[in-house]
Amino acid sequence: MVQIGVFDSGYGGLTILREMRRRLPQYDYLYLGDNARAPYGTRSFDVVLDFTRQAVEELFSRGCRLVILACNTASAKALRTIQQTLLPEKYPDRRVLGVIRPTAEVIGDVTATRHIGVLATPGTIQSESYTLEVAKLFPDIKVNELACPMFVPLVENEEATGPGADYFVKKYIDMIMEKDELIDTLVLACTHYPILYPKIRRYAPERTRVIAQGDLVADSLADYLLRHPEIESRCSKNGTVEFLTTESVEKFNHLASIFVKEDVDAQRIYL
Ligand code: DGL
Repeated sequence: MVQIGVFDSGYGGLTILREMRRRLPQYDYLYLGDNARAPYGTRSFDVVLDFTRQAVEELFSRGCRLVILACNTASAKALRTIQQTLLPEKYPDRRVLGVIRPTAEVIGDVTATRHIGVLATPGTIQSESYTLEVAKLFPDIKVNELACPMFVPLVENEEATGPGADYFVKKYIDMIMEKDELIDTLVLACTHYPILYPKIRRYAPERTRVIAQGDLVADSLADYLLRHPEIESRCSKNGTVEFLTTESVEKFNHLASIFVKEDVDAQRIYL
């Protein structure tokens, strides 16, 4: 079986996996959450690169030929180095894709005011990946970025629906809207954030659109597989999904099953 690998620091990538399976149900997927070492968002460049490289090599060793970094922090800090050095040196026939480019590509069609807000982890914001990527494609768009360091811990600790989440969601939404009142589009540029969507929608001004990445990344993967038959033809198609986690299986199965809305039976691994 040649599965499509999907990697995230924790549970957030499940929001991407869910949309990929909805859009492309025929493929086999292998999800890896590095829950024991999440969050990545406050870690240094070198550490995120190291952890992501280990995860990608683990997925390769299990047969994946294509791995999606369903994590903005890993995409921002590790994708380029992996594509430019690890793959050509050790895995020339394997591919690793990220989530930032597919998100940036659609922004131009969504914003009318040409002022957008990007909510992400401190690591993604520090990398300025969204500002740089959007500037390449749509130089007329003003990108306002804001780090939301409390969002991932709220999700990873099952507090996404509690009152603490209300406090921090309101705080960060108010902060980004104060930066630029012309913002009409808020991008959830962290794969954990869709889990906070109901609260983000509640506190964001009505005139704003709130964009999650799942369906954008799923569309982009569909397009990639169409354009790369040499990769597509090697992906097995039994419609299965398997889960790996670096944390306790009981904890992962419980939370992951809430996100993917089906029973999850993960295997614990050590990276
Ligand atoms: N879900 C990840 C992202 O999209 C990272 C969260 C974290 O580990 O800080 O950025």
